[in-house]
This record gives sequence, C-alpha cells and structure tokens, in this order.
Amino acid sequence: MKIVLIGYMGSGKSTLGKALSDKLNYTFKDLDTEIELKEEINIATIFSEKGEIYFRKKENEVLRNIIATQNQIVLATGGGTPCYGTVMDYLKESDDVVTVYLKTSLDVLTERLYSEKEKRPLISHLESKEKLQDFIRKHLFERLFVYNKAALVISVDNKDVSKVVEE
Ligand code: S3P
Repeated sequence: MKIVLIGYMGSGKSTLGKALSDKLNYTFKDLDTEIELKEEINIATIFSEKGEIYFRKKENEVLRNIIATQNQIVLATGGGTPCYGTVMDYLKESDDVVTVYLKTSLDVLTERLYSEKEKRPLISHLESKEKLQDFIRKHLFERLFVYNKAALVISVDNKDVSKVVEE
C-alpha cells in the first residue's frame, strides 16, 4: 500500500507521515525533500531561480516516479501537489494508493505558518499575521475541492500525533 498525505502547508503532513510510517514499518518519503535531492537546491531557490512552473513540473515528475516505483510507503506531499494538472485523478486511479487529507482550521494554519513562513516561497513575503490569514483563507478555499476528493479526511486540529496516526 502507498499512503499519500495531502493538505495545506502547515497541516503536519511530514510530522504525521513520519510517525505513521514508524507505526506501520513503512518507508517515509517527503516529496519536497525528494525534489531538493534531485535538483540539488532547496525549494525556495527553485522558486526564485527557476520559477513556480518549473517547480510544479518537477513535483509532478518526482511524485509519479515514487508512486510507480515504491511500495509500503507513506508519502508527505507539498500543499499544492494534488492541485496541479491531473495529479489528484492520477493518485485516485493508481493501484494501492490511499489518499488522506489532513484537515486543519484556518486559525491553526495561520499560527503555525506565521512562525515558519520564511522557508515557504508562497507566503514568505506576507508581513503581518492578518495578511497571512487573508492569503490562507482564499488559497485554502481554492484548493479545498481537490483536498476533499481524498479517500479519507482526518481533522487534525488539537489532536496528538498518536491519535491522528491511530485514525
Ligand atoms: C507549497 C507547499 C510546500 C512546497 C512549496 C509549495 C504549496 O510544501 O511544496 O513551497 O503550493 O502549498 P509544504 O506543504 O510541505 O509546506
């Protein structure tokens, strides 16, 4: 089985993915990290030097390669991964893939992302918490219809990692 975690930036895909993979004895993969290894530069530099379209193309390629070649994995995707091209349909049609949307509230996302926005090129320029929250509100709304196509939706607000892993 391949468990693919999707959800907005800051929803805990990497933290929960690692914990889930330990529990299942599966391999953990983080899509952003795999892209950085392949490109040999970090995500912020890919965005600034090569642009978002280039990043989305690589994201798509690396994701499809992992799904086609790996098994017994938990894959933490980037917040935008399922929202571009035919990625969500591809995941839903792939054998042995279970998509899980980690649903997080606007307030929790704002608090978390405000302290970690520097490494995220889409939000690093937003100076105040209010501006960040306005951005997330609109952006999340645009992406929700894709996230909600996941096979499983788990609310993660105010839950311990172990509780979410159990669910
Ligand atoms: C993005 C989310 C990031 C990373 C890139 C773009 C997005 O991953 O892929 O900065 O479009 O939401 P995380 O969700 O792990 O922060």
